[in-house]
Amino acid sequence: MNSLIDSTLLKSGSYLNGKWITKAETQADVLNPATGEVITTLALSNEQDAKTVIDDANTAFQTWKTTSVQTRFELLKKWFDLIIANKQDLAAIMTMEQGKTLAESLGEIDYGASYVEWFAEEAKRIYGDVINLPGQDKQALVIRQPVGVVAAITPWNFPNAMITRKAAPALAAGCTIIIKPALETPLSALALAELAERAGIPAGVINVIVGKSRDLGKVLTDSSIVRKLTFTGSTPVGKVLMKQCADTVKRTSMELGGNAPLIIFDDANMDKAIEATLASKYRNSGQTCICANRILVQDGIYDLFVAKLKARVEQFRLGNGFDQGTTHGPLVSEKAANDVNNLVQQAIKQGAKVEIGGNISDLGSCFFEPTILTNLDAKMEIFREEIFGPVAPIFKFHSEQEAVDLANDTEFGLASYVFTDNISRAWRMATNIEYGMVGINEVAISSAMVPFGGIKESGNGREGSKYGLDDYTEMKYICLGGLGS
Ligand code: SIN
Repeated sequence: MNSLIDSTLLKSGSYLNGKWITKAETQADVLNPATGEVITTLALSNEQDAKTVIDDANTAFQTWKTTSVQTRFELLKKWFDLIIANKQDLAAIMTMEQGKTLAESLGEIDYGASYVEWFAEEAKRIYGDVINLPGQDKQALVIRQPVGVVAAITPWNFPNAMITRKAAPALAAGCTIIIKPALETPLSALALAELAERAGIPAGVINVIVGKSRDLGKVLTDSSIVRKLTFTGSTPVGKVLMKQCADTVKRTSMELGGNAPLIIFDDANMDKAIEATLASKYRNSGQTCICANRILVQDGIYDLFVAKLKARVEQFRLGNGFDQGTTHGPLVSEKAANDVNNLVQQAIKQGAKVEIGGNISDLGSCFFEPTILTNLDAKMEIFREEIFGPVAPIFKFHSEQEAVDLANDTEFGLASYVFTDNISRAWRMATNIEYGMVGINEVAISSAMVPFGGIKESGNGREGSKYGLDDYTEMKYICLGGLGS
């Protein structure tokens, strides 16, 4: 096992109301997907723990909501500083439990921390409105107040950034939060909680509960004290959670599945499009909601594009994320690798041609070979499903209208990308395709400064940017009467 500079960042149980829970009736191992090694054995929290922490978070909320914005700013800023100071260890923990390369983990720690820094500042910018009414004796005021106790259910693909981009706006707005991280990658979340505690964020304001989804999810969604659920994960699970939240009419923010088209026109800069495809498709070994999921290439450049992309993918080196020279790590689990494999084998049965890769690697059961598939059509499952693996399916199109139709032929609407040197076409495409985010000649679209989120069955709400706080505040209208003399 990789050693840490500060081994006290490696935790083995929930952080609830300022206390670390290290003993429980039920345990679960956290595995390193590259080696199969047990990193640690976790004490799992149960339904009763979830009920208790909801009450504690509500008690903490009564004080936190009236804590000055300056104090909230200072505490979040301190948390940010500690995350940056402990970057190496946080990245090592992430590579151990998630598998991504150390370089990618280091990048994610910076990315995750940037949400904390951004929302620390935004805490100072929660504004309202004054609306002039026709009469002289009254004024309308609009203020924003924190929604209350927030529950966050977070995924394993970005074990740090998906937590900070929910916790930071929640805390900035004056909410308290209970985070339930994925059981594949709870250690990054717990290390963040340790740093929040060291930063002086009061007990009960930030809580991390580790346990089985079936034990904890329903308690969090059923509670009338929890006023908001924020979730990043699959669309089917998001739908179940939204239904569970309906009984208490809870606010929800849902960052769900994607089926991102990356559309390359004949007039695009080919070299830039190749680099962008590699970066988007194979980032985090294909395990992101905004990865290019369908690569649509115009017929005039199709063959050359495939040949050039293949030449670059041949240079990838699959391996343990800690090893020098590894460009791509394992998938998060054996199940993840099997799911990708099933999708690929089905496409092959339906006529897909494997240009490179196509199988689980000899390196181990969590490793999937970087893959390119051609000879595909829109009827295949691989056109419809979120792949979540290092597989680039390359479809051919002829006209701009066909590209729009193919791009929109999905229930998803998260990210999309268009490569063209024709400015009119770029604008037409950006407005005609149905996505929450469009990258024109660019795939690095994520940042704390922009509104990240989708439409259609990719979810609702926006994370990051000046809009990101809206999801954590309620609008209140106050009619101030009796002002006449
Ligand atoms: C995601 O895949 O859910 C997040 C990707 C990002 O923040 O860039």
